[in-house]
Amino acid sequence: MNIAIVLLALIATAFAQLRGIAITAPAVGTDITLGERLVVKVEKHDTHGLPQTDLGIVISITSLVDKVARTFFNGSFTPTQHNCTGPPFQNFTIVPTGIPTGAADVTVTHFFNLTGDPAVRWEQDQVAVDVFSETQAA
Ligand SMILES: *[C@@H]1O[C@H](CO)[C@@H](O)[C@H](O)[C@H]1NC(C)=O
Ligand SMILES: *[C@@H]1O[C@H](CO)[C@@H](O)[C@H](O)[C@H]1NC(C)=O
Ligand SMILES: *[C@@H]1O[C@H](CO)[C@@H](O)[C@H](O)[C@H]1NC(C)=O
Ligand SMILES: *[C@@H]1O[C@H](CO)[C@@H](O)[C@H](O)[C@H]1NC(C)=O
Repeated sequence: MNIAIVLLALIATAFAQLRGIAITAPAVGTDITLGERLVVKVEKHDTHGLPQTDLGIVISITSLVDKVARTFFNGSFTPTQHNCTGPPFQNFTIVPTGIPTGAADVTVTHFFNLTGDPAVRWEQDQVAVDVFSETQAA
């Protein structure tokens, strides 16, 4: 087997294991309405015991119409355990405004560092949604 492919696979696995967040709300394909509250639920996943410090989180919505990523939240990520079975999570409530109607991606960018390593690391998850104006929804 090609050694380069093996190396790429190993690197991909290493990154996959580091991925520590997942957006579990809104669901893919959700219709969101401008000016209305939107709950973005961010789960914190096990990163295989690598001790890390959360530096913060940014929630943005990128319109596929004008390709602009607009920021709706920046701040600390403090997920908590809400029941015994699921992973810890944190709900963020944002009010999307000023986005063209149509297809968009809700993106969560999580900044962190690993204990003993000063490098700033980041990871992202995103879900595709459809943006509607208030009048369209009414
Ligand atoms: C970023 O966070 C600061 C402090 O909480 C807040 O004042 C500001 O409005 C936030 N900006 C955005 C775009 O969310
Ligand atoms: C427990 O938390 C998980 C993860 O957030 C969630 O999917 C599940 O619905 C929760 N179960 C209950 C009973 O609240
Ligand atoms: C977090 O948001 C999800 C999606 O709206 C909701 O189902 C859940 O009940 C919320 N949990 C808490 C603790 O706010
Ligand atoms: C990770 O970031 C935190 C918060 O800024 C900082 O206190 C800590 O020293 C950093 N860790 C390392 C290993 O640099």
